[in-house]
Amino acid sequence: MKKFGLIGYPLGHSFSKKYFTEKFEREGLNDCSYELFPIQNISDIEGLINSNPDLCGLNVTIPHKIGVMYYLDKISAEAKDIDAVNCIKIIKNKPVESFFTGELSPMKVRLEGYNTDAYGFLESLKPLLKKHHTKALVLGTGGASRAVIFVLKKLGIDYQSVSRKKARKQITYEELSESLIKEYTLIINTTPLGQAPDISACPDIPYEYLSEKHLLYDLVYNPKETEFLKRGKQQGAMIKNGEEMLDLQAVKSWEIWNS
Ligand SMILES: NC(=O)c1ccc[n+]([C@@H]2O[C@H](COP(=O)([O-])OP(=O)(O)OC[C@H]3O[C@@H](n4cnc5c(N)ncnc54)[C@H](OP(=O)(O)O)[C@@H]3O)[C@@H](O)[C@H]2O)c1
Repeated sequence: MKKFGLIGYPLGHSFSKKYFTEKFEREGLNDCSYELFPIQNISDIEGLINSNPDLCGLNVTIPHKIGVMYYLDKISAEAKDIDAVNCIKIIKNKPVESFFTGELSPMKVRLEGYNTDAYGFLESLKPLLKKHHTKALVLGTGGASRAVIFVLKKLGIDYQSVSRKKARKQITYEELSESLIKEYTLIINTTPLGQAPDISACPDIPYEYLSEKHLLYDLVYNPKETEFLKRGKQQGAMIKNGEEMLDLQAVKSWEIWNS
């Protein structure tokens, strides 16, 4: 049996569980299962792994994407750069090998951490980019914004973070002038505003200055068309929700677990 799962807290409806359960059924992978592991304290990961010897891989969600890094034997360069892990590969330690490499941790496994959000965002954004999308506004400064910024840097797109709080490298929503909106034609929502059930909420930006030159990308995927995207569409902007990013990060997790 090969077990996979998701750690986070609280864990309500899970896209990953649905995605992988349907995949295993569709592809006849009868020896695979995907479970939810709601753990409040990340220190519980050791007990969880030791009591589930069939575990081969985990996805990680809020609030453990950063805290989990302390428990890993290896972190990919990309995840280190982003400073967040959302995918763990669990490799069974071979006792003899471990003896010679000195890896005798309390866990009988080796844990490798990756970030697949960045891959999902990059691959879903790339086909939509036009030559004039050289400057981006990143709304929100939470965990997901780090993966987004990592990708923007990789693509050579200049970015400006927008936050409710004023800080050295970020501006506030009140500072979003007409000229700034016209200059930054890629706008990415990394806040949870607009997510079900509070679907009427949206980031507080001056939507009236948006035009058909703009690309609005919302990491929120439920509902498919958020208030943020609706308002952009009304102004003629191109819009994209977070569904494909979500799919792609799961595809990449599966690739990592099976590599
Ligand atoms: N599509 C995908 O594959 C994918 C992947 C990851 C995340 N997501 C989605 O992206 C969203 C953000 O995730 P996250 O992990 O980054 O969450 P998070 O760590 O909670 O951060 C979100 C950021 O949004 C801002 N924010 C929070 N509440 C706000 C409010 N009421 N008004 C204005 N700004 C607010 C905050 O930034 P400031 O304090 O700077 O304002 C906060 O740091 C979630 O909806 C999540 O489901 C989607």
